[in-house]
Amino acid sequence: MPLPSPLDEVHIRLATEADLPAIDEIYALYVERSTCTFATTVPTPAERRAWLLAHGPAHPVTVAVERDGTVVGWGSLSTWNPREAYARSVEDSVYVREGHHRRGLGRRLLADLVSRAIVLGHRTIVAQIAGDQAPSLALHRALGFEDAGRLRDVGYKFDRWLDVVLMQRALPHPA
Ligand SMILES: CC(C)(COP(=O)(O)OP(=O)(O)OC[C@H]1O[C@@H](n2cnc3c(N)ncnc32)[C@H](O)[C@@H]1OP(=O)(O)O)[C@@H](O)C(=O)NCCC(=O)NCCS
Repeated sequence: MPLPSPLDEVHIRLATEADLPAIDEIYALYVERSTCTFATTVPTPAERRAWLLAHGPAHPVTVAVERDGTVVGWGSLSTWNPREAYARSVEDSVYVREGHHRRGLGRRLLADLVSRAIVLGHRTIVAQIAGDQAPSLALHRALGFEDAGRLRDVGYKFDRWLDVVLMQRALPHPA
């Protein structure tokens, strides 16, 4: 495996359809081995394409890309609840490629999503995090998310019940 680029040479940009195989390559491992996603199957290419198209300008999907073009992480702001009055509340996702953890990529991806959410005029970002996912809980706390509650035993994966911790980051109103 080539050496990772220094972090300042990793850039974050909006994802395109060409990034979808890399997005799912990163995601598949977590689907199969981790409680960080409650999905138990990887989306088909058609489902993933529909997911990207459904995101649209108010709900960006981003990728972190190394100098050589390798996608080493991705993030998204998604609709948190489809009812109209929730339109300015979004939910974040951040996934870093196996082997690239603890380099600051998750922090960069989430900070970038927060900045985009502010510019887009969103009011709050909600995170729904499996109760056993210490890295994700710590990442969100580091980025200013506050605990907003705990839903007990709402997920079932790998033969056990899982809590979901709700976290929330309020965003400043745009000037
Ligand atoms: C959570 C995740 C995105 C963190 O990405 P990362 O690039 O490894 O994290 P960073 O190097 O940017 O770390 C940023 C902060 O997050 C926290 N953190 C990250 N990994 C951690 C770990 N294993 N244990 C404790 N804290 C951790 C720390 O506060 C860290 O700050 P520090 O380095 O100053 O201590 C990554 O572990 C991942 O992809 N996990 C699987 C997917 C997931 O859980 N996504 C979030 C839910 S949508």
